[in-house]
Amino acid sequence: MSDPETPVEEEWVPIASADLTPGAIVETNLDSEELVVWRTQEGFPCVMEARCPHQWSHLGAEGVVEGEEIVCLTHCWRFSRTGEGWKAGMTGRRDRKGDIMVLPCKEESNQIWIQRRKDE
Ligand code: FES
Repeated sequence: MSDPETPVEEEWVPIASADLTPGAIVETNLDSEELVVWRTQEGFPCVMEARCPHQWSHLGAEGVVEGEEIVCLTHCWRFSRTGEGWKAGMTGRRDRKGDIMVLPCKEESNQIWIQRRKDE
């Protein structure tokens, strides 16, 4: 168990090329964790867990970017780049659904980097 008085060390790890175009999604792994890296239509990168929290479809295979969200085509749950989950009905009504884990990321030196704890 870690000492709560000891500051947690964090590091930045390159996870994908920053050549990712708006609307693109790539699959990757970090250690044993399945992740997707995607870019919104406005150009913001996002790194999140790859498995949809509804019924675990892989967003690298079943995901599509619509505007500033990634949509799981299996049952149309959608996630913002901050990880909020929603389902949009035919009438446009949006209902809150389960959230998905998002990792802090940045672009630098033509790479997309994620921040993680150094002991992970
Ligand atoms: S598995 Fe993704 S919406 Fe159902």
